[in-house]
Amino acid sequence: MNNRVYTVGSLIPGRLIAKPPVSEQTESKVIKTEVITVEQNGKRMDIHPVKGKLLDIALNQGKQINYKCRKGTCGQCTVKVLIGPRLSAPNSQEQKKLKNEITNGYRLACQAEIH
Ligand code: FES
Repeated sequence: MNNRVYTVGSLIPGRLIAKPPVSEQTESKVIKTEVITVEQNGKRMDIHPVKGKLLDIALNQGKQINYKCRKGTCGQCTVKVLIGPRLSAPNSQEQKKLKNEITNGYRLACQAEIH
């Protein structure tokens, strides 16, 4: 049932096109800005979040992240996460290797998971 009340103003051509509710406007904005931004050796990279290891996803998207062991032991893949939606909490390998640097936003790309 349509309970919409039409007023004189709503009958003006072009005014009948309803704007999306504020909640929808906000939601589309969130989707547009959902990118993981990391920095390694002063080089900033935007990664579109796909489920998997951050390193693998970044490499698949053509980002040149340095890495070596892929086991969480060498630290070559350390990145600073500037914007990180959908990233897992640091695992034990990251905590062991990075120690307090985790609180400054550093992660091991080979260990961090994107959900
Ligand atoms: S590649 Fe060695 S710690 Fe990630």
